[in-house]
Amino acid sequence: MKIAIIGSGYVGLVSGVCLAEIGHHVICVDNNPDKIRTLKKGKLPIYEPGLLALMKTNVAKKRLSFTGSIGEATRKSQVIFLAVPTPPKTNGDADLVYIENVARQIAQHMDSYKLIVEKSTVPAETGKKIRRTIHLNLPKKYKNGNKILLDFDVASNPEFLKEGSAVHDFMNPDRVVIGVESKKAEQLLKEIYKPLKAKVLVTNIASAEMIKHASNSFLAAKISFINAVAQICDRVGADVLKVAEGMGLDKRIGRQFLDAGVGYGGSCFPKDVDAFIRLGEKSGYDFPLLKEVRRINNDQRHWFVRLVEEKLWNIKDKTIGVWGLAFKPNTDDLRSAAALEIIELLQAEGARVRVYDPKAMEGARKILGKAVFCDSAYAVAEGCDCLLLLTEWPEFKDIDFVQVRDAMRQTVIFDGRNFLDGAHLRDIGFEYFGVGRGRGV
Ligand code: UDX
Ligand code: UDX
Repeated sequence: MKIAIIGSGYVGLVSGVCLAEIGHHVICVDNNPDKIRTLKKGKLPIYEPGLLALMKTNVAKKRLSFTGSIGEATRKSQVIFLAVPTPPKTNGDADLVYIENVARQIAQHMDSYKLIVEKSTVPAETGKKIRRTIHLNLPKKYKNGNKILLDFDVASNPEFLKEGSAVHDFMNPDRVVIGVESKKAEQLLKEIYKPLKAKVLVTNIASAEMIKHASNSFLAAKISFINAVAQICDRVGADVLKVAEGMGLDKRIGRQFLDAGVGYGGSCFPKDVDAFIRLGEKSGYDFPLLKEVRRINNDQRHWFVRLVEEKLWNIKDKTIGVWGLAFKPNTDDLRSAAALEIIELLQAEGARVRVYDPKAMEGARKILGKAVFCDSAYAVAEGCDCLLLLTEWPEFKDIDFVQVRDAMRQTVIFDGRNFLDGAHLRDIGFEYFGVGRGRGV
């Protein structure tokens, strides 16, 4: 199958490379010339485990190429996936200007049947708007009054990729959801995903769009639920890790996405929860449950900072070390990262903040003007009154904590991800605090 992917970011690039890997001919498009130059040089503009090797193999096999031209990609492909950003506007609505703009350009270059597939997370009804945009912008020769002489379809195929394990998630999906309005579109999409041998769920476009909204919001709700539980655990002396384990053993609940911590971040959950609330409001349904999910998540960062403040007494002029900046491990992505918000709150109180992240330092330098950037987790600890673990990078498990202890001024650790071995740390003289572990568990 000849496929184009418009938007070569975290979602588009992973999807493009993986579609090439399962045998298709893929052109990845981006309007950022730097990105295209980087990709053509055989380098990745993002960090995602396993992606570089697959990209190189498929470029070598001539199944994968890159261009800045939507026209070229449209002419050379039958199926075109849209993976451009849909960022939130100030009122929470998803901003669909990129989608509209890309749809317009595709229409202007169409010369045969095309299937245009939404991969970006978009509000229900976007499919209809894409269809209308294409109608409006098709070259005159394909229109006869209201009649369209060139056949095309629009479909929705939401992604469920988790950054950090996106390649694995693409290759081993729990399900592939395809929202279609014609048999032809259904067959094409089924054909594309056939090599994955995955469960395919076929729906109409609006339902596919809703599945994405509802799935991400449900997962966000699970996280806020366990974070609320964690707050009570802390107060009554229960251990949220045991509580999550006990809940998770019930198959109806499941253990995944019950990790309490400093709250969810990333490019999807915060934005998608906002967009789903707005979608509800616009359709006449207030969504108080989801509003509370969002409030609990925001509060979780403030609560964490309050715990640090209680321990250090005054935050002003204290030196605080931060391990981990990315919104989760195995990515360099800093979008809506809890660490950034927490650092901002601490700096507003007058703290001196020292930071280290294995992959996100370059991006962080552009955002955290006042922080001291250190080149290792050990360097962060120098002279600190307190250490905060905010992203659970595996390398933080293998640290020599005696060395860390000896470098610190006060030996206090707040583990915002319940990741470290608290008992061991206490044994060697740390004051260790997790989230929801009963203040001292
Ligand atoms: C994006 C959206 O944020 C998300 O809502 C959607 O589900 C999938 O696409 P992501 O891939 O993480 O997610 O975003 P990003 O890494 O910013 O990639 C988007 C790419 O599109 C960027 O490389 C950007 O340069 C490119 N782009 C943007 C275009 O090619 N054309 C445009 O008009 C706008
Ligand atoms: C998410 C969805 O999982 C994916 O299906 C969708 O396509 C895109 O959005 P992603 O944002 O890459 O993926 O990462 P995810 O692993 O879901 O984590 C999101 C945030 O939630 C991270 O900040 C993570 O630290 C946090 N999280 C996750 C928790 O705080 N607790 C948990 O139990 C799980």
